[in-house]
Amino acid sequence: MAGTNGENLAHTPATTPPMLLMQDIVKSFPGVLANDHVTFEVRAGEVHALLGEHGAGKTTLMNILYGLCRPDSGRIFIRGKEAHIRSPRDAIALGIGMVHQHFKLVYPHTVAENVALGLAGTPFFGPARVVERGLTELSQRYNLPVDPKAKVWQLSAGEQQRVEILKALYRGAEILILDEPTSVLTPQETLELFKVLERMKEEGHAVIFITHKLQEVMEVADRVTVMRQGKVVGTLPVSETDKASLARMMVGREVVFRIAKGECRPGEESLIVEDLHALNDRALPALRGVSLTVCRGEILGIAGVAGNGQRELVEVLTGLRRAQRGKVWILGQELPNRSPRRIAEAGVAHIPEERIRMGIVPGMSVEDNLILKKHHRPPFCRGPFLQLREVRRFAQRGVEEYKIMTPSPRTSAKLLSGGNIQKLILARELSGEPGLVIAAHPTYGLDVGATELIRQLLIRQRDAGVGVLLVSEDLEEIITLSDRIAVIFGGEIMGVVPAAVATREEIGLMMAGERRRVPNP
Ligand SMILES: Nc1ncnc2c1ncn2[C@@H]1O[C@H](COP(=O)(O)OP(=O)(O)OP(=O)(O)O)[C@@H](O)[C@H]1O
Ligand SMILES: [Mg+2]
Repeated sequence: MAGTNGENLAHTPATTPPMLLMQDIVKSFPGVLANDHVTFEVRAGEVHALLGEHGAGKTTLMNILYGLCRPDSGRIFIRGKEAHIRSPRDAIALGIGMVHQHFKLVYPHTVAENVALGLAGTPFFGPARVVERGLTELSQRYNLPVDPKAKVWQLSAGEQQRVEILKALYRGAEILILDEPTSVLTPQETLELFKVLERMKEEGHAVIFITHKLQEVMEVADRVTVMRQGKVVGTLPVSETDKASLARMMVGREVVFRIAKGECRPGEESLIVEDLHALNDRALPALRGVSLTVCRGEILGIAGVAGNGQRELVEVLTGLRRAQRGKVWILGQELPNRSPRRIAEAGVAHIPEERIRMGIVPGMSVEDNLILKKHHRPPFCRGPFLQLREVRRFAQRGVEEYKIMTPSPRTSAKLLSGGNIQKLILARELSGEPGLVIAAHPTYGLDVGATELIRQLLIRQRDAGVGVLLVSEDLEEIITLSDRIAVIFGGEIMGVVPAAVATREEIGLMMAGERRRVPNP
């Protein structure tokens, strides 16, 4: 094809036009060029991965396609016909669906009510019943099991995502945008999602799949487009590339996938948990007598399939859920059922699982978010006065050390890209010189560079004598970082293994409910 001009490309008669062509898209925000003459093409029946570091401009490009944001210039063609997308309503009418990086479901409503919400032509009263039937049919066709009558707040992240996908399909999406769908999924749920994507391909849909996990690109995508600093670096068939070259294209340098870790020198116990019992949100037993210890200078990894009590354990330890029974000592203090603030003040840093909902105040600036929880303490406050200069200096250091991409520390936190919001929370939590770090999925959804950075920081904390409780479903991560590995199943610890002698097989068996035979170390 000779044409560089949109007209020619889009209307070449000899070939069928692509399902989607975004051409020469430019979008700038104050201080950043988020999309710098991006041309992006997706065909019917393909899964097209969109890859790039945090802040590369992926979400922005997709927001433009979905009508959430207007480009400064550039054109969009759907099946060769120019489209003018001014709102999500326009996008939906053109057969575009989007599952956002951070879900937009309404918590107190049921699944069916959420799907019905904002849908044209549904009755005001009892719209759910009309939708329920359609949903059940779709969920069978795509093998996406959900209970239409369940309330959204009761659903796990994976189930909420299924609802989002069903919602898009219900509205007739032919081009489906999935913005980091797997960052909230367990490995098992990820496999299920991939089957759904295969199904969509067979039906001639086009799927745009944003991820930071190179392995997933290799597994599920047909083609991949790599972005860096707002520009497209290249588009290529997945069969013609590999993980190392993709990583290089993304960050513009070689990436180390291995991590250096010195010997573990455990000190006194930073956390002791004895016979802990707690209920989950549905008032069913979630923890059934969990006992474990984390020493200073040690990383204890908790491995397990999601939903086996990990979330409840972290919540009890950080004061977000009441324990029914059991004892907890944190850094020498007996602290069961205290407020989150009291526990934080005892020296516990918490990297929460649901970072966006729990971790930041979106309307506040980056720097205010960085000193959150510390504003009432020196050096940030003297008497009733906030010490602005101290705040600025502290924020500047956080931004630099954690490589938070922001036009300025005074930018509103909600304007940062997803990965940069995560780095902001990590910076705040780890900068308080904690004695114990409770980290739930600390690298979920982070790009290769940021993952490398966070893992190094956790190891640095451990080397400085901090106890680290690491909860992760990523077995690779658990094995790389932990000194000892505890496996949780059905709210009980199946066994604890020193990482040095742990095998995948043994951990896998315990994750499936087999108890460890040899005594725990
Ligand atoms: N509404 C906005 N106002 C100001 N700046 C914005 C806005 N939306 C995005 N940006 C900026 O544009 C750049 C690209 O952000 P974008 O969210 O597209 O990145 P991304 O590739 O999706 O990153 P991530 O992998 O972290 O999700 C970032 O520097 C971000 O801070
Ligand atoms: Mg994004």
